[in-house]
Amino acid sequence: MEKYVINGGTPLYGEVSVSGAKNAALAIIPAAILSQDICVIENLPLSISDVRYMIATLRHIGADVRYIDKSSIEIDSRKVSSYVISHDMTKHLRASYYFIGALLGRFGRARVAMPGGCYLGPRPIDQHIKGFEALGAKVSVEDNAIVEASSEKLFGAPVYLDIVSVGATVNIMLAAVKAEGMTVIENAAKEPHIVDLANFLNSMGADIRGAGTDVIKIRGVENLHGCTYSIIPDQIEAGTFMVAAAATKGNLLIKNVIPKHLESISTKLVECGATVEEYDEAIRVSMDTRPGKCNIKTMPHPGFPTDMQPQIAVLLALADGTSLISESIWSNRFRYTEQLIRMGAKINVDGQIAMIHGVEALKGAPVRADDLRAGAAMIIAGLAAQGRTEIEEISHIRRGYENVVEKISNIGGDIRMVYCVDPLDINDAG
Ligand code: EPU
Repeated sequence: MEKYVINGGTPLYGEVSVSGAKNAALAIIPAAILSQDICVIENLPLSISDVRYMIATLRHIGADVRYIDKSSIEIDSRKVSSYVISHDMTKHLRASYYFIGALLGRFGRARVAMPGGCYLGPRPIDQHIKGFEALGAKVSVEDNAIVEASSEKLFGAPVYLDIVSVGATVNIMLAAVKAEGMTVIENAAKEPHIVDLANFLNSMGADIRGAGTDVIKIRGVENLHGCTYSIIPDQIEAGTFMVAAAATKGNLLIKNVIPKHLESISTKLVECGATVEEYDEAIRVSMDTRPGKCNIKTMPHPGFPTDMQPQIAVLLALADGTSLISESIWSNRFRYTEQLIRMGAKINVDGQIAMIHGVEALKGAPVRADDLRAGAAMIIAGLAAQGRTEIEEISHIRRGYENVVEKISNIGGDIRMVYCVDPLDINDAG
């Protein structure tokens, strides 16, 4: 068992560089099998476990994957031969279901176990299935555990998403890119990683327009070729450091970012009293007073991202006044508030709304990372709090944040990873 130990109360100062975007990487890695060729993908967050599992899954179906350096790989998809992916491979992360769209696009057939991932409330895949069926695939879900999709030939079609879904938009793009004719996804997700996936597929010879708006048009092409592509910076990692700078009353230059992707986060930080300066590929956040209150409603892009909701709650827990957070994407994303309350926060949750009464200071405590972004919030809280915080279940954090101990130590945070004995581990007895 491993945990993070943080001695808080020190402002974060200096420069930190953001890694490639996890959620773009998770869509682009399976997309590579749509070509029977070689793709080089750069600026990948290769040390996070979600990306490692996607690479392991590629190898499982026959792709050759070669590590070029610490953020680039080469994927040779010529020998991909299997359209079957078992639960052992899919249980670790949500994005494993992108192999359904990618395999359907490559072979007209996919048999993929249902995905794992953070528990944020029910995570149905009805909109993915609706899209595959619109393109002409037959889809069945066996025992709620395995998705089987097949089609003699896929044909482009209009697909209206009843709910704005990142995952369904990605999966339908993957299945449609080589279908015959035009697919039009209406009410599509507009997140930066959707645009990145479209740019990657277009670099392989696809014909996709409108990504980043709510209507995406995909004219199917017969073949895709290899390419070299560099992934965008991670919007949420950048946002997490921005909030950490403000919550610790520090001053951070966050490099390798696209400031446009961070506008909703910058706006809220400024509303709380932080100073935010934008440069071409960097953003500086500083704060020298107690944060002010502000209200937040999470929304699909370009609204305030749900994946930044737990982190900003830490800042609001320290604010002068009472703030409201309304979560509109996930039905169970406030579990982390129980951990913050252990650290002295005053938060009342009622359904999808959290009312946060700011306190002057948080105090260190033993806490748990309930999921990836909840874990990021615990790190920020530990850095801002007085005293020692121990965070358990850090495997969640390592799914999505690259070299987190090293990056935070370099900007003055006192954080380290420690190994501890599991009291239930009988192999350690005696
Ligand atoms: N939904 C449906 N039916 C569907 C698909 C989604 O009802 O067929 C609902 C979901 O239950 C949810 C809403 O639609 O209430 C939005 O879900 P979406 O499909 O957009 O989420 P996702 O694709 O499963 C991605 C990110 C999440 C992020 C959400 C929202 C990846 C791998 N995951 O999830 O990221 O919270 O979009 O922006 O891209 C994270 O990185 O920590 C993370 C959880």
